[in-house]
Amino acid sequence: MKINLKMMEMSEMSSSISFNPKILGIFCNWCSYAGADQAGTSRMQRPANLRIMRVMCGGRIDPQFIILALKEGVDGVLVAHCYPGDCHYVEGNQKTIRKIPLLLLYIKQFGINPKRVKYVFVSASEGIELTEIVNEYVKELKELGPNPIRIESEQVN
Ligand code: FES
Repeated sequence: MKINLKMMEMSEMSSSISFNPKILGIFCNWCSYAGADQAGTSRMQRPANLRIMRVMCGGRIDPQFIILALKEGVDGVLVAHCYPGDCHYVEGNQKTIRKIPLLLLYIKQFGINPKRVKYVFVSASEGIELTEIVNEYVKELKELGPNPIRIESEQVN
């Protein structure tokens, strides 16, 4: 019995070590994407877990994008746009500021941990901060484990 428990612990440890979360980033073009670009041109190391989808404004971030990504099995969605008051389309990001808290409540009702959506403001000059956010989010998602929807779909196939 002790051996089995030890083996299970070792198995859990190895799965958490080998788990490499997939993250979809949905970034506003003018601030957050420019921040990611700045990080890249400054040759900052960022984990390869993040794939960025660029939208022209935070206001263009439809909650359906996030729901679809989670449904398709990404482990986390990083939503980033300009700071309040810095939107290039005046108040586009105000819409998203209102939408995201509602979305978090919605996904929680379906058993998805709201930590699977990280919502941040990143300006064009914050390449270092963005890199830190991504590194931190990878750690958080590793602790959280794979998206249960992905596990279910892998078991079906
Ligand atoms: Fe970045 Fe609107 S242009 S949030």
